[in-house]
Amino acid sequence: MIFDKIYQYNFPTTILFGAGASKELGDYLLKNNLLKPLIITDKTIAQFDFFKEIIYGLKRKNISVEVFDDIHKNPVKSDVYKGTDVYDISRRDCIIGIGGGAALDVARAVVLRVNHREDLFKYDDLIGGDVYVTNDVPHFITIPTTAGTGSEVGRSAIIADDETHQKKILFSPKLLAKIVFADPLLTLDLPPFITAATGMDALTHNMEAYLAKMPHPLCEGIALEGISLISQSLENAVNRPDLESRSKMLIASIMGAVAFQKGLGVVHSLAHPLSSLLDTHHGLANAVNLPYGMEFNIEGSEYKFRKIARTLELKDETGKAVVEYLFDLNATIGIPHKLTDIGVKQEHIEMLADLAVADFAHPNNPKPVTREDFRQLYSRAL
Ligand SMILES: [Fe+2]
Repeated sequence: MIFDKIYQYNFPTTILFGAGASKELGDYLLKNNLLKPLIITDKTIAQFDFFKEIIYGLKRKNISVEVFDDIHKNPVKSDVYKGTDVYDISRRDCIIGIGGGAALDVARAVVLRVNHREDLFKYDDLIGGDVYVTNDVPHFITIPTTAGTGSEVGRSAIIADDETHQKKILFSPKLLAKIVFADPLLTLDLPPFITAATGMDALTHNMEAYLAKMPHPLCEGIALEGISLISQSLENAVNRPDLESRSKMLIASIMGAVAFQKGLGVVHSLAHPLSSLLDTHHGLANAVNLPYGMEFNIEGSEYKFRKIARTLELKDETGKAVVEYLFDLNATIGIPHKLTDIGVKQEHIEMLADLAVADFAHPNNPKPVTREDFRQLYSRAL
């Protein structure tokens, strides 16, 4: 690791973590004189008892609550515009995102839009739009309900165009939550498939971040501990969930998202096209591709794979053993071994390879990835 350039490292979010953390929300709002929150969530979460309890708890403290839950599974621009209208019309003073990736993406995009009223996609990070994020933004609070994306500690939101479905990334350090209330009790009743898929997304974040090119020892330490916590808890969280396994998964998913400020890699670039082309769940797409992508990465990163193997407490401290571990873990938690099992066909491969090579994640991969590499990786996983 040679530090011949200057790097910026960010660890700014306050996180309140532990069983019952979500119950602290009301007092926090009162202390900060925030009395008119807009809560942004999705329709499924809005039906859960824990959500109703949060709302009830706030109302009991005389906090005026408005809920916006009219969002898509893959959020689109009009969701953000509608949410902003609710914020304006009901004269809110802060925004609370409660949910998984989709709800938190919409919440974060509304946070941006409140004081930035040009077309939303003018702020697209991929065309340098972050420079236009210059105004203040409302006080923003996040409460995760899955252990996967880690979006609660993120600075970006992925929003698609309503017609073209093209995804845009809205990014700014201003979009960080001021505080995260991370309460593992909210994840206790997640169904096994969602637990497995989102959990493997978290594992992919930690592994790809650990291997990513950027020199960042702080994140590498976090990523290795994240990998360790997931290896201790994912199988239990899926098959025998309890507070311990849910707690370890929730903090490990946050650690993965903190660590991937270092970058992601080949696995996310393999996964993103599956979601845009075939609407595959993001975590599932990562889970199936993870062993194959890691096998590709061993060459040149043998030392780091040895450290991952040690972290996983494998007898054989090699990259090959790590890959075998990942296949076994997938089998134990009900993730398919092959892409054909999740609807990918031979005829998709060329198109997938085109999309993957254009993806933003793999330039940070430790080893360069060509279009032909993507084609071979998809074929191998088919
Ligand atoms: Fe991810």
